[in-house]
Amino acid sequence: MILVTGGAGFIGSNFVLDWLAGSDEPIINLDKLTYAGNPDNFASLAKDPRHRFVHGDICDRELVAALLKQYQPRAILHFAAESHVDRSIHGPADFIRTNIDGTFSLLEAARAYSATLSDTQRESFRFLHVSTDEVFGTLGADDAPFSETTPYAPNSPYSASKAASDQLVRAWFHTYGLPVVTGNCSNNYGPLQFPEKLIPLVIANALAGKPLPIYGDGQQVRDWLYVGDHCAALRRVLADGKPGETYNIGGWNEKANIDVVHTLCDLLDELSPAAHSYREQITFVKDRPGHDRRYAIDARKIERELGWKPAETFETGMRKTVQWTLANQAWVRKVQSGEYLQWLDKNYAQREESKT
Ligand code: NAD
Ligand code: DAU
Repeated sequence: MILVTGGAGFIGSNFVLDWLAGSDEPIINLDKLTYAGNPDNFASLAKDPRHRFVHGDICDRELVAALLKQYQPRAILHFAAESHVDRSIHGPADFIRTNIDGTFSLLEAARAYSATLSDTQRESFRFLHVSTDEVFGTLGADDAPFSETTPYAPNSPYSASKAASDQLVRAWFHTYGLPVVTGNCSNNYGPLQFPEKLIPLVIANALAGKPLPIYGDGQQVRDWLYVGDHCAALRRVLADGKPGETYNIGGWNEKANIDVVHTLCDLLDELSPAAHSYREQITFVKDRPGHDRRYAIDARKIERELGWKPAETFETGMRKTVQWTLANQAWVRKVQSGEYLQWLDKNYAQREESKT
């Protein structure tokens, strides 16, 4: 079996669902259920004996050690993190705790556990660290995309905490021989994404008749990848990734934010027409401090060495995402309560409309 951390979040729960759709190998799913963790995401697995959910914190080393001893997983896939850049600007402490201390704690538990394994088991054991392209910082318009050898230059508390976690993972390989592999992925989108991130926020606001907030001039570029493609890449990395290596994962889909929002508005105009075009709801607001201008991933290594390529285009992935959201309005409404409303107030109330 495998142990997944953060399997109640966006990418983790997609990974769990995809994994069990294609394999009978059981999963232990350890998640703290922060605001971003949602057990509804795997409600379809309620009676499935292959999925065991454990409500707990990756910083709780005793709990992690007990789980490793009891279940003897052949791999740990580490998704758990604080993941939203804007939240890291308002309050970095949780990011330092979970992303750095939590990863350290997990690495130490994994190191102690691997020492109890037989030579053959240790040989095949893997610690797969799920990370981000934001560790590389920002690109100019004409710069080459991030490769695995691009120097780290994180610019937000979130990316700095992920960069630190990547460096810890690297050190545990070089110093202790823990068989780690890291995936540095670009922006994900798709079903079950918490509506604080650009794409689900814009769809939710559009349908609610609210403003669609574009930070700054909307010309920041991200490299979008459908979440199912990220999950497929991680399965390849787990199966054949080389210990100590990192793999950049991206969709070859560089888009300016304003173009992403236009695409969403046009899809909504087609699939859920209102009396006006949703584009009329677009509002330019004050920029994010330290906003990275451009991310782009050179994904040739994972294609060359592990044979992975994204299956979805931006057009097919975005259409699936809008269709999923329209068909799952109860899920969206349920997560839009309590803490979520406080967050909207904190992040957007002070962003006056700008003239850009
Ligand atoms: P998410 O915020 O949707 O989910 C994070 C999950 O981790 C939640 O279920 C939360 O409850 C859990 N968690 C948080 N702190 C925890 C703790 N201390 N102990 C146990 N569980 C805890 O995040 P996501 O978007 O699914 O991202 C998953 C991973 O992928 C993160 O490591 C993130 O840095 C990385 N990543 C995300 C993207 C993206 O576009 N979303 C892109 C590249 C990499
Ligand atoms: O690149 C990978 C990263 O992508 C992941 O590591 C992070 O976990 C994930 O959150 C994401 O980070 P971003 O900051 O790029 O994603 P976000 O959806 O928050 O924003 C995407 C772009 O849209 C970014 O340039 C900021 C902009 N934006 C975002 C929001 C929420 C807006 O213009 N308006 C908004 O309201």
